[in-house]
Amino acid sequence: MKKKINSIRGMHDYFPEELTIWKKIEKTLKEVLNSYCYQEIRLPILEPTSIFKRTIGDVTDILKKEMYSFSDKKGNSLSLRPEGTVGCVRAIIQKGISCIKNKRFWYLGPMFRYERPQSGRYRQFYQLGGEVFGCDKLDIDLEILLLTFRLWKKLGIENYVKLEINTIGSLNDRVKYEKELVLFLKKYEYLLNQESKERLYTNPFRLLDTKDIHLKKILKKAPLLKNYINDISRSNFNKLLKMIELHDIKYIYNQKLVRGLDYYNDTVFEWKTNENKSQNTICAGGRYDTLVEKLGENKTSAIGFAIGIERLALLIKSLNIFSDKIENVNIYIIFIGDLNKNYSVNLSEKIRNVYPKLKIFVDFSNCNLSKKIKNAVSFLARIVILIGSNEIEKKCILIKDLKNKTEDYISERELMLKIKTFFKNV
Ligand code: HAM
Repeated sequence: MKKKINSIRGMHDYFPEELTIWKKIEKTLKEVLNSYCYQEIRLPILEPTSIFKRTIGDVTDILKKEMYSFSDKKGNSLSLRPEGTVGCVRAIIQKGISCIKNKRFWYLGPMFRYERPQSGRYRQFYQLGGEVFGCDKLDIDLEILLLTFRLWKKLGIENYVKLEINTIGSLNDRVKYEKELVLFLKKYEYLLNQESKERLYTNPFRLLDTKDIHLKKILKKAPLLKNYINDISRSNFNKLLKMIELHDIKYIYNQKLVRGLDYYNDTVFEWKTNENKSQNTICAGGRYDTLVEKLGENKTSAIGFAIGIERLALLIKSLNIFSDKIENVNIYIIFIGDLNKNYSVNLSEKIRNVYPKLKIFVDFSNCNLSKKIKNAVSFLARIVILIGSNEIEKKCILIKDLKNKTEDYISERELMLKIKTFFKNV
């Protein structure tokens, strides 16, 4: 028996049926991003490993366990990007940060993390990210939340997602807090599982958003992060919450929300859904005002977000939102006998010249007529054009309207005019 060739675990192929939802999502996302003046940026999938080490954090799960890293022929360590923010910052520094100030970018593409695959969690997944540079005003934090909320509304899922938001203060606040947290948790170290024990000494901050119920109980008595946040950050966060309320966006102030990447400060947020069984965060982001500096440039404030496209598609599919079927084909051309092939191909080219937006399928298969008609139906074609010797002799073409179940013999000239009546905006 031949050995079956499979894709790499956690990396998936997406066929046209699934991409129908993806395309609708992408179209909506791009429209909304455009309306907020975000511009597209395309970035390499491979980056030097060092830039991730300097920014994401040496002791984060991503850096410790999830990177796809390898050496190139010259021995340079390269990594498949696990996320888009760091590469975007590297790119704007390379381009010259001064021309980037107060600019908004978006990108869409695959990211790679060696995680344990399950529904909504993959080793190759797609993110649509948005990043804003050079704006330190709270207004931009609000604008990003308004933008993401608008996306959900346009997609019709605003009632199925909720915003969780927190402030993690400055990096100094974090250091002070981590010291106190470790002191507190050491008393309970014997109760912690192996992973939490390790985190206690490597990345105690991440213990706050643990899923371990024992640790969750212990953390109820732990010092609170909010008591270590500096006055400016705290007051800004309170102002931001008020601004969000004015715009009628419901939120949950989640003091345990800290994010899995080390570059954040102040505002952090996640949009979550209860509909996906696991992996319920569909979008996440926050401020990262020190990241540009960490990569060697002058301090530049920055904030961004990224949406997990697979998770969003799962949610939309489970809600059956885009239930209307999309025509795969507009016009399906069937010819009978090889002698009529040339005429059919020529006709299809003429139609494409006049109606470039239409999808025209010429059936070159050897199937019989009824099989070909069935195929046209399964392709959701609107009209079938049938070319047999009779049709050519009589200079008449049989046109079948599959929607209204009618048919008619017309001349080629009439056909060219009639097509317009079947399709909008052609
Ligand atoms: P992140 O939370 O690591 O943040 O990822 C953002 C989103 O990508 C998640 O909320 C989730 O929807 C999706 N995602 C992450 N990992 C996976 C996976 N293994 N499989 C499927 N989907 C996944 C970032 O990546 C930051 N760069 C976001 C950001 C942009 N912050 C500021 N600017």
